[in-house]
Amino acid sequence: MPMEYSEKVMEHFMHPRNVGEIENADAIGEVGNPQCGDIMRLYLKIEDGKITDAKFKTFGCGAAIASSSMLTELIKGKTIEEALKVSNKLVEEALGGLPAIKRHCSLLAEEAMLSALENYSKTHNIKIDLESKKRKMNK
Ligand code: FES
Repeated sequence: MPMEYSEKVMEHFMHPRNVGEIENADAIGEVGNPQCGDIMRLYLKIEDGKITDAKFKTFGCGAAIASSSMLTELIKGKTIEEALKVSNKLVEEALGGLPAIKRHCSLLAEEAMLSALENYSKTHNIKIDLESKKRKMNK
């Protein structure tokens, strides 16, 4: 049986938002899934604690591209604290659901955001509560 994708997933896969790189990005996060080999790179522009721009490059499956696209839409304009509340579940819901075997693709988007914010906290010497977020992810 062919896999069922929602219209929203198809739409974000066919016309992904915010594809590309940000020159002089304030934060870059890159994660990969060793099982499928897909890689996601996320670029963030952060001003006064707010994510003013987000772009991505994803070398991966359609669900990963749709998830990256949705993630950038969800976190743009949010403060770092607000962005930390954006989970892969939220990305998935906003996409109208993903087939069960494609859930890990949305997780890649959440991990890319965490990786970018982790790098940001290191390079800007600010404290971001990533630990509690990671604990939630592992549940
Ligand atoms: Fe690898 Fe979707 S199959 S992220």
